[in-house]
Amino acid sequence: MADVSLTHIEKRYGAHTVIPRLDLTIPDGEFTVLVGPSGCGKSTTLQMIAGLESISGGRLMIGGVDVTHLPPKDRNISMVFQSYALFPHMNVRDNISFGLKTRHVPTAEADQLVADVSKRLKMEDYLDRLPRELSGGQRQRVALGRALVRRPGVFLMDEPLSNLDAKLRVEARSFLSKMHQELGTTTVYVTHDQSEAMTMGSRIVVMNGGTIQQAAPPMEVYRRPANRFVASFIGSPSMNFIDLDVASPAELVDAKNGIRISVPQHRQTELAKSGLRAVALGLRPEHVKLATDGEASLAATSFRIEVCQFLGSETLLDIARGTCRVIARVGAEETVAQGEDRIFVFDMDHAHFFDPDSGNNIAMNR
Ligand SMILES: Nc1ncnc2c1ncn2[C@@H]1O[C@H](COP(=O)(O)OP(=O)(O)OP(=O)(O)O)[C@@H](O)[C@H]1O
Ligand SMILES: [Mg+2]
Repeated sequence: MADVSLTHIEKRYGAHTVIPRLDLTIPDGEFTVLVGPSGCGKSTTLQMIAGLESISGGRLMIGGVDVTHLPPKDRNISMVFQSYALFPHMNVRDNISFGLKTRHVPTAEADQLVADVSKRLKMEDYLDRLPRELSGGQRQRVALGRALVRRPGVFLMDEPLSNLDAKLRVEARSFLSKMHQELGTTTVYVTHDQSEAMTMGSRIVVMNGGTIQQAAPPMEVYRRPANRFVASFIGSPSMNFIDLDVASPAELVDAKNGIRISVPQHRQTELAKSGLRAVALGLRPEHVKLATDGEASLAATSFRIEVCQFLGSETLLDIARGTCRVIARVGAEETVAQGEDRIFVFDMDHAHFFDPDSGNNIAMNR
């Protein structure tokens, strides 16, 4: 087992800087997920930890050892890639134990390791099969088994589930989480899928443009996003953003679309302190609600329901007032219809105020 620490890590390809400066400490035993849009530098970061890409600047420590310039084999890591090529002519047993043979692990010990790992993976009945005789999910487990038998200090995984169909992916997610609970091996897991990040990580590191936007436990990132990028990347459907003028700390206004929003007393100091004349109001779809009869008479801002998506467990509504467009998530029991004008209320206790210029969440950055 081992902790991983990246200090001022940089990556350049010629004159092109991909990672300007990255600082991240991953404690021993933590399951950390690097998440972000395509091209943000997740794989590059993982490959630098693995030693498959050189590090242009900074220091990398694994288990207290400076490994910045050590080759992959001296880093005490195992890596699982997205394309988990198995040897097609070898059975499951030989595929799993391949790495042990090349390291001259004694046969008895290797057999024991393979037996143990294949039991964990529920693959003990498949050891004599060839890869083509297995399902995609089973092949995935063989690839994981091959990495697991090595008992590394750190697991590095780059989108290892992206080849699986939706159902298998959900199964594999819980399998990997369980495995991590049992073994407690430090894991760095890369994905661009925010729901995978939310469900698997003890901590999520949200990246954009080669920089860390926020590193925190999943619910913290969801409830207290550091900035507008994180707020829009994590959560599905995405958070709504409404551009509003700060008429006073007590009232936000979009005059063009006839929207006036009262700010509850306990949120007014935040706005007043920020000194902002305009804000982007961030509201998750679940915090946009159909008004009850009592509320409807108080706040009379109606929105037109443009699209209803009945998902069974809940209903998503695309609602609009002038050019202001919002997605609301309401209970499946609500009676709603396309084309209706209805009164909606915004749950301001859960709203976020973002600085329109910097994109920062004013509650967290001042
Ligand atoms: N060998 C290279 N030479 C120049 N630029 C590169 C090289 N490898 C990667 N890059 C650039 O580095 C950036 C980060 O790439 P990286 O593969 O780390 O992204 P990623 O976050 O893993 O994206 P994805 O989700 O698409 O896998 C990209 O802009 C990419 O074009
Ligand atoms: Mg990648």
